Amino acid sequence: MDKKVILSGVQSTGRLTLGNYLGAINNWVEMQEKYDCYYMIANSHSLTVRNNPEELRNNTLKILALYIAAGLDPEKNTIFIQSQVKEHAELAWILNCYTYMGELSRMTQFKDKSLKHQDNINAGLFTYPVLMAADILLYKANLVPVGEDQKQHLEITRDIAERFNKLYGDTFVIPEAYVRKETARIMGLQDPTSKMSKSATNLNDVIFLDDSEETIIKKIKKAVTDSENVVRFAPETKPGVSNLMQIYSAITNKGFEEIEKDFEGKGYGDFKMAVAEVVVGKLKPIQEKYNELLENRDYLVKVYTEGKMKAEKIAIKTINEVKEKIGIL
Ligand code: TRP
Repeated sequence: MDKKVILSGVQSTGRLTLGNYLGAINNWVEMQEKYDCYYMIANSHSLTVRNNPEELRNNTLKILALYIAAGLDPEKNTIFIQSQVKEHAELAWILNCYTYMGELSRMTQFKDKSLKHQDNINAGLFTYPVLMAADILLYKANLVPVGEDQKQHLEITRDIAERFNKLYGDTFVIPEAYVRKETARIMGLQDPTSKMSKSATNLNDVIFLDDSEETIIKKIKKAVTDSENVVRFAPETKPGVSNLMQIYSAITNKGFEEIEKDFEGKGYGDFKMAVAEVVVGKLKPIQEKYNELLENRDYLVKVYTEGKMKAEKIAIKTINEVKEKIGIL
């Protein structure tokens, strides 16, 4: 039987966080053995906000280096840069014509982002989910690993695919979201009621993947908790400690009950040190590999060029099938 196809991606804006890593890339590593995986760097999606061009270029390579440093094997996966496979833009245009303004207006991410960037509510921000649908449908992905915040975009992808299939006969595979409950949402350290975000204004809220050991320890020590001083998982009433448990669990693979047992009778001070230790332990080798890779541009270029060629093969097949069906010469 053919392997199931997986596709996912990370935007190339800003510095990556521990949330990006534990919520996404870390989970992908185990999937590479079982599935036919496509991992892209969503640099075209990044254009919905204003970027410094040099920074955007660098960030694209940084994410590529991180994918590899985190353990994604370029031989086993197709790792590529979105903008290099032109079929993404091409299919996005076509799918735009099969997507309704009403549907797009209901996207919570669009509503949130247009509130945040009132000076730049561009059409790309509005049709962002359609480009994402194109990313997914081009490769006929069965499963799409995403965080909770992207589930709605997957729903609209399914709606667009079903609509198209109904009009023109079976063309697209209807993809499913693949959300890992335990690590779907790593929250901020200072405000554990909202997602850890690279655009947070309080830098202590976020662990960046390139933070130094000292910085990581300092940030975790400062993390907001509560006055109970008991390590217990209760996201509603103890969001801070529960978030630290989530981080600890994602790295050690221990369940929450086990963690509670391990830290019985110990206070938050001990627990925080233990969390800091596993985070540093996990990130250090990745950081070393990452820095090494960034020094080796030729290798990165080779990886993304090969990735582009592998991705293109599938993408061209799908776009030709679509054009044939709709009557575009
Ligand atoms: N929008 C996703 C995010 O910000 C990134 C992304 C772009 C993506 N295209 C995708 C994720 C396709 C999964 C599949 O997290």
